[in-house]
Amino acid sequence: MNADGRTRLNRTPEWSALAEHREDVGEVQLRELFAADPARGAGYTLQVGDLHIDYSKHLITDETLRLLRELAAATDVFGLRDAMFRGEKINVTEGRAVLHTALRAPAGAVVEVDGENVVPAVHAVLDRMADFAGRVRSGEWTGHTGRRIRNVVNIGIGGSDLGPAMAYEVLRPYTDRELTVRFVSNVDGADLHEATRDLDPAETLFIVASKTFTTIETITNATSARSWLLRGLKAGEEAVARHFVALSTNSEKVTEFGIDTANMFEFWDWVGGRYSFDSAIGLSLMIAIGADRFREMLDGFRIVDDHFRTAPAEANAPLLLGLLGVWYGNFFDAQSHAVLPYSHYLSKFTAYLQQLDMESNGKSVDREGRPVQWQTGPVVWGTPGTNGQHAYYQLIHQGTKLVPADFIGFAEPVAELDDELAAQHDLLMANFFAQTQALAFGKTPEEVRAEGVPEELVAHKTFRGNHPTTTILARALTPSVLGQLIALYEHKVFVQGAVWDIDSFDQWGVELGKVLAKRVEPALTEGADVPGLDASTQAMVAKYRELRGR
Ligand code: F6P
Repeated sequence: MNADGRTRLNRTPEWSALAEHREDVGEVQLRELFAADPARGAGYTLQVGDLHIDYSKHLITDETLRLLRELAAATDVFGLRDAMFRGEKINVTEGRAVLHTALRAPAGAVVEVDGENVVPAVHAVLDRMADFAGRVRSGEWTGHTGRRIRNVVNIGIGGSDLGPAMAYEVLRPYTDRELTVRFVSNVDGADLHEATRDLDPAETLFIVASKTFTTIETITNATSARSWLLRGLKAGEEAVARHFVALSTNSEKVTEFGIDTANMFEFWDWVGGRYSFDSAIGLSLMIAIGADRFREMLDGFRIVDDHFRTAPAEANAPLLLGLLGVWYGNFFDAQSHAVLPYSHYLSKFTAYLQQLDMESNGKSVDREGRPVQWQTGPVVWGTPGTNGQHAYYQLIHQGTKLVPADFIGFAEPVAELDDELAAQHDLLMANFFAQTQALAFGKTPEEVRAEGVPEELVAHKTFRGNHPTTTILARALTPSVLGQLIALYEHKVFVQGAVWDIDSFDQWGVELGKVLAKRVEPALTEGADVPGLDASTQAMVAKYRELRGR
């Protein structure tokens, strides 16, 4: 029993009903489901904004969907959703509201945290960002020597990197191609070195993105970037103001670092790091694509926010996608979830989703701190589809593991491509459609034999099929569509965390490694005797020092 009187998830009748249903449907065959219902292909679809979502190729029946929705009702997913949108402190372990949705609320909206409407502050920061981005893009904002900014380097990690870095790739066709925009995250000095080695400091703007402004990787890189700049310009600290801006919630630390708070773009503790890319953290993207495109992207987020908030359970896409993940993870023992975009521009999309999903739902205690007795978040993985086809799709098609997958594709190639390259789009999309068909329906031994394949090869050339996929198709990959896609996944992750009764908004699991790294460092640099080092780590540290000639 939970403190609020609710039964624990795996003791609810709704959970048991799903477990029984799983027994009943047994090895449900997609071939049979489609044969039994010719309308299934068109029937199991949803339209959300510009996203056409086909979920017909899932191992589900109407009954499965009904039982999953009952589980969502029993776990009060919509109640928690409403509490989130209202600004209640649903991040229980940190005592914080979870209001990334307020970042894209319209100017007139009212969203209160501790009795204060946060929307005006959101729009004030957006306006300041727009002003600054406009001045950089037009050349009005100049560096210390008076030269215009041609290079923008975002220094941040995790949620302060993955979002803008991903979105910059996605929206490349919308970017100012005269600007060089790079992203540095790794504390490996090679990252900053490669990002700056061919840049002119006089024309380079660093954006230091860190919610806390204490993250060691980011502060270390930002410190090195400042040295690189001052060395290159042969200037003193006074040059920093024209070449460094900060994106943070922590004005004290920003000042301590030497960045004037006049050059700081603020966000708030009710924005989680992995949910922050449509806050000030998006400044590098806004400089690249301009404020209007950025606002179009926010409009896209809002389309899906409104849908999630208002659509009934039967037609609610994030709810549906979240529940499908519960179905496979908890009742089929699927351990992972692949996201396979058929767009070169989405090359970093899955890496972004990894943090969104795995940092949110990689938890093993419930909201009250008790060990969960059910599986939680999956391993999320994937790369652009056609490349994956020649790498790991073999395992999805013929391996022993169940890998539910999302296929994301677009009807139109980007406008910039010449005719010959644009013509390749049909081939790309032919692969997109062919793969979901092959995964769902496979190839029977009889079909293989009918092709004259020798008997000893029949088993090898048979495809079991029955691999579940969701297909998401939109006309084109626009800023709005990107916003819609991200919000769709944000809310899907939310739904799963709500069902699993975990806090999707903390990330304590990242802390231990951080603390230990700080403790171990003096052992590497000074050979210090660090108490508490285990024998294996001690021996490896000694080997490291030997190899470095220390
Ligand atoms: O990985 C842990 C984490 O706290 C993420 O949640 C966050 O996005 C990242 O570190 C960076 O944190 P900050 O923006 O405070 O530098």
